[in-house]
Amino acid sequence: MNKETIMSIFPEKAEIPPEVMYTPIVQKEYLSGGKLISWNGPVQEVLSPVCIKEGSSVSQAVLGSYPLCTEKEALEALDAAVKAYDTGRGRWPMMRVEERIKCIQDFMFGMKEKQHEIVTMLMWEIGKTFPDATKEFTRTIAYIEDTIEAYKDLDRSCSRFTIRNDIVAQIRYAPLGVVLCMGPFNYPLNETFTTLIPALIMGNTVIFKPAKYGVLLLRPLLEAFRDSFPPGVVNTLYGDGKVIVGPVMETGKIDVLAFIGSSRVANIIEKAHPKPNRLTTVYGLEAKNPGIILPDADIGATVKECLLGALSYNGQRCTALKILFVHRSIAEEFVQKMSDGIAGLSIGMPWEDGVAITPLPEAGKTAWLKELSDDAVHHNAGIVNEGGASVNRTFFHPALLYPVNDSMKIYHEEQFGPIIPVVPFENIETPLSYIVSSNYGQQAAVFGKDPDVIARLIDTLSNQVCRININSQCQRGPDTFPFGGRKDSAEGTLSVQDALTVFSIQTLAAAKMNDLNNRIITSIVRGRRSVFLSTDFIL
Ligand code: G3H
Repeated sequence: MNKETIMSIFPEKAEIPPEVMYTPIVQKEYLSGGKLISWNGPVQEVLSPVCIKEGSSVSQAVLGSYPLCTEKEALEALDAAVKAYDTGRGRWPMMRVEERIKCIQDFMFGMKEKQHEIVTMLMWEIGKTFPDATKEFTRTIAYIEDTIEAYKDLDRSCSRFTIRNDIVAQIRYAPLGVVLCMGPFNYPLNETFTTLIPALIMGNTVIFKPAKYGVLLLRPLLEAFRDSFPPGVVNTLYGDGKVIVGPVMETGKIDVLAFIGSSRVANIIEKAHPKPNRLTTVYGLEAKNPGIILPDADIGATVKECLLGALSYNGQRCTALKILFVHRSIAEEFVQKMSDGIAGLSIGMPWEDGVAITPLPEAGKTAWLKELSDDAVHHNAGIVNEGGASVNRTFFHPALLYPVNDSMKIYHEEQFGPIIPVVPFENIETPLSYIVSSNYGQQAAVFGKDPDVIARLIDTLSNQVCRININSQCQRGPDTFPFGGRKDSAEGTLSVQDALTVFSIQTLAAAKMNDLNNRIITSIVRGRRSVFLSTDFIL
């Protein structure tokens, strides 16, 4: 990619098609206790990663602003959630399954009407391409639908009695209480909802805090949240996490912390809870997923998967391939083909047809990536591809670094961006000891043809990471598959089904079998006197 193309990547306003243009959102309200409350205090201006040219000046588009609430509003939102849960006696946690499903469905219908606004804001706020932004939206809808079906399944499987040792029991899943959900900027809709929706459907009440980037895109949903759920069941926290999250945790009133972000921040938040033993945590954290490319790998197919794995959404996925170990016998050829592959990727703005590489939303990110790349070069790596590591404001051109070794920062740090470090190896122990001594343990990808070699690697890696991908990039989906990680990469396993159990606790009603108890249970069930002790099931 020549430098000129990179330097002239940003459009003039007149060049932006009207159908993809954003409508600024000056958000003045937040949702708390079933009301959209007006905010007249300080606000956070939201800048797009997309810059716009105007004459000789080029600057980040201003998308709008959102409230920078204080500890006071955060604690009010928390109180609303606590009141709605009412120590488990609130309307929401006591509701029948089908009624809760109806609320979630109402919300989903409201959400579907906002697809255009949300997808447009996903492009402008976080620089996601139009196809990927659309996929994030439709994947989230599918996740909600699948969650409803999984919940029905779970409920059906609980609609029966178990008898052991003359004790009859009905075992169900009960809510845990008040959940604080915090999503990441790279999937601000999808990953926020992969915890929010299961938490809600299980009967918990929720406060959710959007990530640092990707905030305004949630604004179109506030009315649907307000209108679909009883007051206080869904509340929002807008503001600086450092100011508002600590005080909320310090109350000890949060029962579940669902957080997708860094382990450093997860630890700070968790430690603020005065009784960590009462806190359930579910985390999706950082990773440095390696690809191991064996000497007999099909180079063409491997390059295709590695490009996808390392550069989809500019490498800003926790599941991205973040380091490639390539057998020395094929390393030169592999690197050349990767370089050709990068040259074939289209760079540009998120709405452009076929675009693959777009500007980055995080402040200071391109400078930091440049630093990582400079450090590698300083330690004798080459930037193999033309234009690699060129920076134009928020845009960073992918850099293929080779040969990388353990003296470089990129060998150890999660780049979460478009840098592909390639480490040549001769002995398989090189990648294996990297994985074993790594702080991360999410996934790995193995590329090769020999079933014996691959079988041995699967067996070794299965005690190191939570998913081994064979001749395939690392990824979370399908969302019904378990998604987790070891060490600093995650806590708890999420999938459509697992999330339901993560946000609930198994609870049973049990009785020694005798005439009196048998009569009581029969009467309760036949008379449909209890929501919990019931053989009703939903179709
Ligand atoms: O950022 C982490 C996401 O969970 C990755 O999901 O593999 O579907 O892109 P994905």
